[in-house]
Amino acid sequence: LNLRNSFGNLFRITTWGESHGPAMGVVIDGCPAGLELSEVDLLALLKRRAPGTSLDVSPRREPDHPQILSGLYKGRTTGAPLSILIENVDAQSNAYQSWEGKHRPGHASYTYLEKYGIYDPRGGGRASARETVCRVAAGAVANKFINENGIKIETSLIQVGLERNPNNFSSYLQTIQQKGDSVGGLVSCRVRGMPIGLGEPIYLKLEAQLASALLSIPATKGFEIGEGFASVEMKGSEHNDFLIDKGSFASNHAGGLLGGISNAETLFFRVPFKPTASIKKIQKTTTYLGEQTELPISEKGRHDPCTAVRGAVVVEAMTALVLADFLLLSRTTRL
Ligand SMILES: Cc1cc2nc3c(=O)[nH]c(=O)nc-3n(C[C@H](O)[C@H](O)[C@H](O)COP(=O)(O)O)c2cc1C
Repeated sequence: LNLRNSFGNLFRITTWGESHGPAMGVVIDGCPAGLELSEVDLLALLKRRAPGTSLDVSPRREPDHPQILSGLYKGRTTGAPLSILIENVDAQSNAYQSWEGKHRPGHASYTYLEKYGIYDPRGGGRASARETVCRVAAGAVANKFINENGIKIETSLIQVGLERNPNNFSSYLQTIQQKGDSVGGLVSCRVRGMPIGLGEPIYLKLEAQLASALLSIPATKGFEIGEGFASVEMKGSEHNDFLIDKGSFASNHAGGLLGGISNAETLFFRVPFKPTASIKKIQKTTTYLGEQTELPISEKGRHDPCTAVRGAVVVEAMTALVLADFLLLSRTTRL
């Protein structure tokens, strides 16, 4: 049962930590023994998620150096739980004092407070995207495992707000930021080298599990596979991918799946991110007691002008986790 802080079935992660706590961590249970692994393997993906690296992302400076505390012997996984710890070194909790007691529009405070009766406003606590550092560390391990099985994931940011030309993303984001605002973004993902047969019929269809994984990333608002919403306006004669030869289709409108099971074509999907909730414009809101008020919410806090910029690597990590899980599950299918 995947309750609250765990994800996956056979390749399973449990994450812990808050944005302004001392550290973040993830326990990976089910990583096969014998995988060559070191902290260096985690760094490339973690660096792509790290804040403070350019004007297009949050200026919070976190080295995000992972420490692998268990599950390794002589540079190989042992089959025991892998435990990874990443310290928080640049939390500035005093920036949040002026917001305490006020709901920040677009943030999780209202639902958390109603559900739990308590909410950690410092960086959004557990609702913060700081939690995604754990997913990326675990995703790097999953990625190594699926790479060894010939699977390669590529993600790219293909749109920020109205801008579709990647060369203009930086200047567009700076203009938006100067206006005290934020924008949404669209991440595209292609997975090559997919084997045939990943995914289970009905409830564990590969696309259903991907949708669940990707919609669990903070700020994601959709999941579109293959032609996705454009399928509505297509004819069957246009959408059908016909088989030319074993393992080869004439087209790939379905996005690499049939009946929820990978057909060995490139897996192709897109994930939209909403505009960052924290903006500098004055916004109406209420206090926790229900009084009307206003918030100039991010005068001091440090934020991403577009969550999809750093979100792309989180999409990659969650995809790797799902595929690692299904790869292990597929080994139980036939005699
Ligand atoms: C990589 C990444 C970075 C993010 N950075 C910010 C940020 O700087 N400020 C902010 O308000 N939200 C940020 N978010 C989004 C919030 O975490 C999220 O919108 C909030 O918790 C509410 O959850 P919901 O949008 O899923 O409803 C980020 C999300 C991701 C994936």
